[in-house]
Amino acid sequence: MKPEPFAPAGDRYDHMSYRRCGRSGLKLPAISLGLWHNFGGDRPLETSRAILRRAFDLGVTHFDLANNYGPPYGSAEETFGRIFSDDFRPYRDELVISTKAGYDMWPGPYGEWGSRKYLLSSLDQSLRRMGLEYVDIFYSHRFDPDTPLEETLGALDSAVRAGKALYAGISSYSAEKTREAYDILRALGTPLLIHQPSYSLLNRWIEPDVLDALGELGVGCICFSPLAQGMLTDKYLNGIPEGSRAASNTSLSPDLLTDEALSKIRALNDVAAGRGQSLAQLALAWTLRDPRMTSTLIGASSVAQLEDSLGALRNLALSDDELAEIDRHATESGLNLWARSSAE
Ligand SMILES: NC(=O)c1ccc[n+]([C@@H]2O[C@H](COP(=O)([O-])OP(=O)(O)OC[C@H]3O[C@@H](n4cnc5c(N)ncnc54)[C@H](OP(=O)(O)O)[C@@H]3O)[C@@H](O)[C@H]2O)c1
Repeated sequence: MKPEPFAPAGDRYDHMSYRRCGRSGLKLPAISLGLWHNFGGDRPLETSRAILRRAFDLGVTHFDLANNYGPPYGSAEETFGRIFSDDFRPYRDELVISTKAGYDMWPGPYGEWGSRKYLLSSLDQSLRRMGLEYVDIFYSHRFDPDTPLEETLGALDSAVRAGKALYAGISSYSAEKTREAYDILRALGTPLLIHQPSYSLLNRWIEPDVLDALGELGVGCICFSPLAQGMLTDKYLNGIPEGSRAASNTSLSPDLLTDEALSKIRALNDVAAGRGQSLAQLALAWTLRDPRMTSTLIGASSVAQLEDSLGALRNLALSDDELAEIDRHATESGLNLWARSSAE
């Protein structure tokens, strides 16, 4: 059945703030939407469509994908391609669409990591699945210790020169590898636009040096899993609900929901309640407190979650007292599943 035609809200730019990505000319919405989970072939197309439409209506102009988002691999890009073709094609120039390659995608030696062979063939496949002529940002999804960085970043430069991507990005790279990547891309004549690291109240690995490097180099930052895959919301306060990410035990292990983690989450929930916010809203406002953070990249399995999260924008200011109270509970909790992808 054909969906109702999409007529985006006329006031869609009234709800969002847009932040400059490093020292580039590109602005990103303060909150962006990722399609890692909830948009695969295992999900009803109409739920995915409703989330994407509502996001665009509320000013979310940036959608983030990767080759292997699903499940199955590739199916989030197919879902996006279908909805793009039905709903968003007239608005292509109002959207920033990104994809990535780096993790396991197809069998054999050319289906993962950072070779030129893999990255450029993967980008061609992504463009076909999404029905796009180009993506706005193409990322190296993880650092590859066995491929020279010159080769990986040379592939991003080639993608930009071929008109298949407008900008180049890296994800989960350490501060040291970020600096190297910046230098290589600069010498090639394609600036490094953006870094995409994990970051949340319970995963603060970028604070000691990655953010400093990005600020100094003028590279933007979009942090992923700012809700710690749902742990930084009210959903696990009273057990593990059916249908939740922890219940499916795919990327979020229920073992992470320890008594210690839950006591931090409860304390943070109290801080949020004191501000008249949901915990999700506090968690997102906190990731945006640093001006070097361009955007915070959420997931959502329903329109209600998306709306709750975007409600963070109504109160982003945090007082010194609130920040100090948050610091007492916002401590490392073993959630950086991507640490190994940064430099080794
Ligand atoms: N570069 C990388 O290596 C990398 C890695 C991971 C993610 N990412 C990107 O970052 C995006 C976001 O990652 P993520 O999905 O882990 O982010 P997240 O925002 O930390 O977690 C999203 C999950 O939290 C729950 N949730 C969201 N809003 C909620 C709300 N308001 N109230 C209650 N629960 C809520 C939902 O869980 P349920 O599904 O259980 O309802 C949702 O699926 C991805 O889509 C992807 O684009 C990149």
